[in-house]
Amino acid sequence: MKVTVVGAGAVGATCADNIARKELCTELVLLDIKEGIAEGKAQDMMQTATLLGFDTKITGSTNDYSKTANSDVVVITSGLPRKPGMTREELIGVNAGIVKGVCENILKHSPNAIIIVISNPMDTMTYLALTSTGLPKNRIIGMGGTLDSSRFKYQLSQHLSCSPSDLNAVVVGGHGDTTMIPLIRLATWNSVPVTNFLSAEQQEKIVKDTMVGGATLTALIGTSAWYAPGAAGAALVEAIVRDEKKLFTCCVALDGEYGQKDICLGVPVTIGRNGWEKILDFGLNESEQAAFNKSADAVRSMNDVLKTL
Ligand code: 2OP
Repeated sequence: MKVTVVGAGAVGATCADNIARKELCTELVLLDIKEGIAEGKAQDMMQTATLLGFDTKITGSTNDYSKTANSDVVVITSGLPRKPGMTREELIGVNAGIVKGVCENILKHSPNAIIIVISNPMDTMTYLALTSTGLPKNRIIGMGGTLDSSRFKYQLSQHLSCSPSDLNAVVVGGHGDTTMIPLIRLATWNSVPVTNFLSAEQQEKIVKDTMVGGATLTALIGTSAWYAPGAAGAALVEAIVRDEKKLFTCCVALDGEYGQKDICLGVPVTIGRNGWEKILDFGLNESEQAAFNKSADAVRSMNDVLKTL
């Protein structure tokens, strides 16, 4: 198995580090446009191999896509990260050009790759990857909901004083501060609805804090977060290479599911060797569906900006 991570910034490097530690592939390529950074970080990670006990061979490359040839999975993290006060949407102009170019270069050398998109604004970058490459829809996966669901479980665990691993909870819709929908009604603590244990005020706070989870970290750190985004990317790589059929929320092309078409948006899907394999219908109630439609409208108008670039 061969995996490429494009973009050796904090998110890309963390994603690569997780992939190597878990030995998800024999060959791992880290690529960046900035001279030397990918080679340097790849070497640094390789120097942890004997300490951490992994055998994955990590290679760095400054924009030489021939090194990425025959990758089974490619994770795209390239583009500008958010600065404090910035929305993910403000990155569209610069990041669209970058993501489109990366997709073209990747497919020249790895025509069968499954592509995971992390770059922001993630829903629009996923849509761009799908429409610009014309790849079968199952091979384009946007990571957002995987990260947001993990942040949702974290927020729930803080209020329930429980292990996040004992929770099942998903965030659907867009990967934006106002477009994501944490489905608290459906969240469970070892199969019992969490709403049994939380006041209405607590529920409202958890939902709100989840939605601004990324912005809160950007304000604290001064740039976008990377540990959870990187780990979320690696979790998707793991589900693909191990053919896990695990359920994640991912941004995928909708063709009537959840009442939407011609858009990529976060819904529950199974992930396996073929990319995303099945969309699960979680039976949204009226207000959740209305929020989903509103989220779709916002993402669709963001996608329309692509036509003007
Ligand atoms: C975040 O939410 C990077 O969009 C990513 O932190």
